[in-house]
Parts: sequence; structure tokens; C-alpha cells
Amino acid sequence: MEFENVIKSRQSVRDYSSKKVENEKINFIIECARFAPSWTNKQCWQFILVEEKKIIEELAKTSIINRWLKNVPMIIVACGNPKESGNRNDIDYYIVDVAIALEHIILAATDKGLGTCWIGGFDEKKVKEILNIPENFRVIAMTPLGYPAEKKSLIGKMAKVVTQSKKRKSFEKITHINKW
Ligand SMILES: Cc1cc2nc3c(=O)[nH]c(=O)nc-3n(C[C@H](O)[C@H](O)[C@H](O)COP(=O)(O)O)c2cc1C
Repeated sequence: MEFENVIKSRQSVRDYSSKKVENEKINFIIECARFAPSWTNKQCWQFILVEEKKIIEELAKTSIINRWLKNVPMIIVACGNPKESGNRNDIDYYIVDVAIALEHIILAATDKGLGTCWIGGFDEKKVKEILNIPENFRVIAMTPLGYPAEKKSLIGKMAKVVTQSKKRKSFEKITHINKW
């Protein structure tokens, strides 16, 4: 896919077909995460690829607003180790590192015709328990991964309306030339 198409066609997908994602595609997507930049190249991230239906259902229960996750074929959980990254001006860079890598995953998935949805709404403590994540790691975000379903559910349609997902601030509203 052309880069511009990848950027402009990416959208949060909340309805998935049950079709399994091919291993080559998963490998490509994780390869793209590996090439993300990070604080002094420490690569503080770990990704958990969850395909087991029972575990997916348990993860879906860690969020009231994201119960729809129970129907997805796969979830990638993105974790970071704060000790493997830095802090400047009170900004914790492990969050930035993991966020960049996860966005690589999301764009790589889009390029391969797959759907994703950045998920920030979950109970981190419960997610860590379900997945045996070590104490020293934080869960930054997760995303479902799979082929978008032909038909949208009511929840999928409602989320698009509530978030006004197609709406973006204009160039003028988000840029300053030379000084603020
Ligand atoms: C930090 C962050 C947290 C988010 N958390 C959720 C979430 O918990 N559930 C959900 O359905 N979407 C979540 N989203 C997706 C946003 O709602 C979505 O990106 C936004 O509405 C724009 O729509 P689009 O992704 O289709 O362009 C999250 C996005 C970000 C960046």
C-alpha cells in the first residue's frame, strides 16, 4: 500500500471476522515494531500475542467499555519496562517508546489489510494477573488484530459516532509557524 493510503485508511476497527491472521503477517508486523526508535535504543518493550479464546475473553472483562474485545481473533498487549528507558523534564519515555512501537504495529497491520484499535481502557492490575506480566513492567496499551468484519455491530457504529472518528483539527489549528 502507498504510505499515504496506509495513514489515511487506518481507522479504529471494532468488528472482526473470525479468520485467523497468517503467521507471515504477524511476523511482518512485529518486525516493523522491532525497527521503531527508542530511548538510547534500549527497546524497553515486550509484546504479548494472545490468540487463545479463553484469555481473550478474560481480557475483554477487564474493561467495561471494551467488552466487544471478546469477539476478536487476536489481541496484542504492549508492555514496557520503565527501568529500560529514561526520564527527562518529567516525561517518562518508556511510554513514548512503547507507543511508537505499537503505532508501527498498527500501521504495518493496516498495510496488510488488517484492522486494529488502540485500547487504553482496561484495568492494568487485572491484565497483568491474567497474562503473568512481571511486576516491573507496565501495560501501556493493547490492540485487537484481525480482518475487519463485513458488517458493523451496533457498538462499532456507536463508537464511531461518539468519537466522531473521522473528524480532525485543521492544519491551522494544530501548527504554529516559527513561534507559538
Ligand atoms: C490513547 C488512546 C486510547 C484509546 N482507548 C480506546 C479504548 O479503550 N477503546 C476504544 O474503542 N477506542 C480507544 N481508542 C481509539 C480512539 O477512540 C480513536 O483512535 C479515535 O476516536 C479516532 O478514531 P480512528 O482511530 O478511527 O481514527 C484509543 C485511542 C488512543 C490513542
